Amino acid sequence: MAKASSAFKVGGFIEAPYFVDRVDELQHLHHDARTLSQSNVVIAPRRFGKTSLLRAVESRASEEMLVSYINCLGIVDPVGFHDRFVEEVLRSFAARHGKGKRLLVTWRDLLKKPVLGMRDALSEIGGSVEGMGAIRLKFRTREVDAQALLESALAFPEKLVAEQDERVLIILDEFQALVPLGEHIFSLLKEKMESQKKVVYLFSGSSFRMLHEVFGREGKSPLYQMVGRLFLGEIPYPFVHRFYRERLQDVHACEITGPALSQVTEHVGGIPYYFQKLGVSLEREITLRNKKKINSHDVEKAFTLLLEELSGDFQERWETRFTGQQRAILKTLSREPMSVTEIAHSLDVSPANISYNLSRQTEAMILTKEDRRYRITDRVFAAWLEEL
Ligand SMILES: Nc1ncnc2c1ncn2[C@@H]1O[C@H](COP(=O)(O)OP(=O)(O)OP(=O)(O)O)[C@@H](O)[C@H]1O
Ligand SMILES: [Mg+2]
Repeated sequence: MAKASSAFKVGGFIEAPYFVDRVDELQHLHHDARTLSQSNVVIAPRRFGKTSLLRAVESRASEEMLVSYINCLGIVDPVGFHDRFVEEVLRSFAARHGKGKRLLVTWRDLLKKPVLGMRDALSEIGGSVEGMGAIRLKFRTREVDAQALLESALAFPEKLVAEQDERVLIILDEFQALVPLGEHIFSLLKEKMESQKKVVYLFSGSSFRMLHEVFGREGKSPLYQMVGRLFLGEIPYPFVHRFYRERLQDVHACEITGPALSQVTEHVGGIPYYFQKLGVSLEREITLRNKKKINSHDVEKAFTLLLEELSGDFQERWETRFTGQQRAILKTLSREPMSVTEIAHSLDVSPANISYNLSRQTEAMILTKEDRRYRITDRVFAAWLEEL
């Protein structure tokens, strides 16, 4: 078998041999989707591998059902949601059933061509696409409002597959991006989740706040108790170590020492984005110097290069995302994890004074609370901050 050209991979579709662990999570989400037993939300801090996991579920589940993946980032209004949603549902339908291609073309025309001709084109197609398209046209001529449009989008998948007697999984990645669209979309979703028989949903988000507001408050949250929750943590270190050993061996016939492996996880933990990035950085060195063994010194050097590469992003984050007190808290915590009292003491303020910012930052997953101590979730950002 031809060897892969790189040992590590950042961005794009992550599958074997680059996909590490998440076996239980994948099985869990796949099971709930294929049996239509419940919708789920995957919660994890940024860069922990939500999208990769969702894509893996998509790939596995689409062997036996219709799966549409929709990234909610960049959707700013109900029309934007409607159009992206319908486009993705039709795209996955077309990929699964050859005949869907014509539907996709008609749909794209619908958004730009003159209204008149489109009515005829739609009635020729008929079925659920005609119904959905007619509402989209009425929106263009201002005969219906944005709410009707949302309703039509969310009703569309089940209607579309009714003739096929098929199940549907709708994946909404970066679900929190829909919050600014207003609560109505969530109430509509609830209605659909309760009435649709063949559709389940999989959401992802990177804040406890969203989880709490949309799913967690009894009597207030629009989707209260409508979904199962799955928290993604860091990948356990032994998996990361094995991944490094195997990839370096398979692709470069290169060994890595035990202390060097410990050094890897000491710096980047089990955060997938960072262990892949650090791997890429190490790999450059291996290729350049034709190395056959990686030691702690090499890891150290690669990590310094990684910090340099990311420093622009970190600087921007540092300057634009936090208030003065939040910055002070972060700077203090970059040295080591601390309890509320310890942080307060170090900042020379009362614990009550910082409790608001501590909970805000924990809700946003910037901080992680473990054994009554707070630490910066993003270990690499913390390392950069310590040097600042
Ligand atoms: N299970 C995994 N095994 C190996 N690498 C992974 C895994 N999951 C993610 N990665 C690596 O981390 C990178 C970022 O992952 P991904 O985009 O899935 O994270 P995310 O949580 O969706 O991030 P964001 O919050 O920025 O959307 C991937 O490009 C890949 O390099
Ligand atoms: Mg993502």
